Amino acid sequence: MKNYIKYDPWKIIEEGFNPDYNKISESICSLGNGKFGQRANFEESFSGKTLQGNYVSGVYYPDKTRVGWWKNGYPEYFAKMLNAPSWIGIKTTVQGEDLDLNKCEIQDFSRVLDMKKGVLERRFTAKTQSGKIFQVVATRFLSVLRDEIGAIKYTIIPKNFSAEAEILCDVDADIKNEDSNYDEKFWIEILKTSDDNNTFVTAETKKTQFQVCTAVKMELSNFSKVENILKEKYAAKKYTVQFTENEEFTVYKYAAVTSTMYYSKEKISSKTLQVLEKAYNDGFEKLLDEQIKTWDEKWKESDIIIEGDVAAQQGIRFNIFQLNQTYTGRDERLNIGPKGFTGEKYGGTTYWDTEAYCLPFYLATADKKVAHSLLVYRWKHLKKAIENAEKLGFTGGAALYPMVTINGEECHNEWEITFEEIHRNAAIANAVKIYVDYTGEKKYLADYGLEVLISISRFWAQRVNWSEDKQKYVMLGVTGPNEYENNVNNNWYTSFSAVQNMKYTIKAIDFVKNNYPEDFLRIKNVCNFDEKETEKWNEIIANMYLGFDEKRQIFVQNDGFLDKELIPVSKLAASERPINQHWSWDRILRSCYIKQADVLQGIYFFEEEFDTQTIKRNFEFYEQFTVHESSLSSCIHNILAARVGLYDKAYQFYLNASRLDLDDYNNDTCDGCHITSMGGTWMTIVQGFGGMRIKDGLPSFNPIIPKQWQKYAFKIRHQDNLFLIEVTQSGTKIQKLEGPDAKVLINGVLTEIK
Ligand code: BGC
Repeated sequence: MKNYIKYDPWKIIEEGFNPDYNKISESICSLGNGKFGQRANFEESFSGKTLQGNYVSGVYYPDKTRVGWWKNGYPEYFAKMLNAPSWIGIKTTVQGEDLDLNKCEIQDFSRVLDMKKGVLERRFTAKTQSGKIFQVVATRFLSVLRDEIGAIKYTIIPKNFSAEAEILCDVDADIKNEDSNYDEKFWIEILKTSDDNNTFVTAETKKTQFQVCTAVKMELSNFSKVENILKEKYAAKKYTVQFTENEEFTVYKYAAVTSTMYYSKEKISSKTLQVLEKAYNDGFEKLLDEQIKTWDEKWKESDIIIEGDVAAQQGIRFNIFQLNQTYTGRDERLNIGPKGFTGEKYGGTTYWDTEAYCLPFYLATADKKVAHSLLVYRWKHLKKAIENAEKLGFTGGAALYPMVTINGEECHNEWEITFEEIHRNAAIANAVKIYVDYTGEKKYLADYGLEVLISISRFWAQRVNWSEDKQKYVMLGVTGPNEYENNVNNNWYTSFSAVQNMKYTIKAIDFVKNNYPEDFLRIKNVCNFDEKETEKWNEIIANMYLGFDEKRQIFVQNDGFLDKELIPVSKLAASERPINQHWSWDRILRSCYIKQADVLQGIYFFEEEFDTQTIKRNFEFYEQFTVHESSLSSCIHNILAARVGLYDKAYQFYLNASRLDLDDYNNDTCDGCHITSMGGTWMTIVQGFGGMRIKDGLPSFNPIIPKQWQKYAFKIRHQDNLFLIEVTQSGTKIQKLEGPDAKVLINGVLTEIK
């Protein structure tokens, strides 16, 4: 755990330059606007440790799969969101000497991400080897309102010299992914220019043929000469300028980044230049003003206030900020990668994380269109999910959604996960229920949801088999969320979820049939669905094998789990943890240690099926063996701990979740932030401490407050209302900020909010 980020309620502050932490800070201070994003790399040259990262949403490359032993059914490629052309470079050279922070003596360094405004600011004083002192302030943002625009204001004060200098402002498309299977470059050049008017590079991805145009325009205090430089996949302007001792010299750099996701190949370059021209003419201050106002609007809906604990306050705002930067719901083809725009790991692809951990945040803090887009993304991939299941031998329109995808096709290639971690289907089906329950928009079932539900239920019906021995339906060869045990039989979470999915599908069929008969006929046609199929589903629902241990009165994670040597995590030496870095895989697989919530994930999803004692018994049993080596684990444990009255534990889990990246708990923030688990962090406050659930269509709250806090407050958009929920040590107050009079449940009591 590192502790170098200064506490502040609204800002992420790094003070003093620590090159060893540079990659961590680059991740934490990343910027994004839903359409493109970047790590907090430096504008000037930097020869020290850095992970350069610019990413354009939806633009990917099918990197040829590299596996040790090929299995039939493996995908040919792993889609990767590409490291894209960089536009931030503002490189200063004086008398042949580069301003390179790795070669300078640095003083007064600070990197500050202002989350309230969505602005990154860096300040430093650097003394070069020849003794020249530069004072620099660099301010940068990616416009959330104009989501194709970025802007930088870069001010230099030469502190102890006057001299002629060169400033190079470039677009560099000669970029590689650090994480590529064959060390290839994925971009080819299509067009580039640097002349009196324009500087841009249009580059195309190999194979997928996406084009990205990156154009820049500069405004400088003064310059005596400008030279246009063109190289392979590179365009720049080099300005000759005069620095005067102690006088400010400012460079504004505006950028437009667009892709053929939005423009045709014929028009992309000219359109990009148009968008850029408009931003340039409007100027930095206007763009900045817009940025502050847009973020202000976002915070009005999604802020959480915690009083009396600045670390917790900063933690939760950081999570909310990153979620809002990563996904805006404006495009149904986009989704949320586990690292968002903060790094290459996981390839920017979509996992079950979106439905299981991110959906509740977007549902409750934004217009319902945003969550709708997330769901429609999967609906659009349904055909591919059916093809994916067909590849594995399923028939009749059964769908298996990919473990990992960008375009609907499976990219993952470890058989025990690709073929067996099928519980992702459950999260996708359950997301339909969560959306409909939350928004009250039942028509969604007729428009999109039911097709997905039928196809997933068909999959479950084929994935089980009848066991003569048990006289039950069993589900063999699966991997639950606990990836520390693979290829198990009867993973309780997967089997229980399958039953719940099928039950809900049957209800949804009845609903659509009775309320939207024309849609029902269309769906029957599209899915080639025969209502008799539900007979088999009902039989499975009534006869599914769900492991239960009579002695301990708990659900059994999977067959054989209780035969393991059951030694609590507390008995493990600290030096052995995390076990995934210290133990052989074989040892992990045979151990009782659970990577992340598994049975507890099921109890969380379907909580209304269980009484408090059942939840508590299972929580206490499984929690002791859980090592939380996935960032997705703490939030579920927080929510259940709060639910059963284990408040200290709930608080501990909250801390782990909310400051995971800020304090680099897992020593991996250098690769990027854990964006999808940030949705889980939001859930810890709202569902964990706030105890929020939807009950019969109404928001229901059972708030508790950690003793370390004086107060916390969050907002919830529910249907036409925006509620403010304030919890103090002496009670809960709920106000309606927008919308008609409404009813909510507070500690089970129906309350009118006027
Ligand atoms: C977790 C998965 C998760 C993935 C991406 C893995 O470590 O075990 O549940 O989907 O990371 O976040």
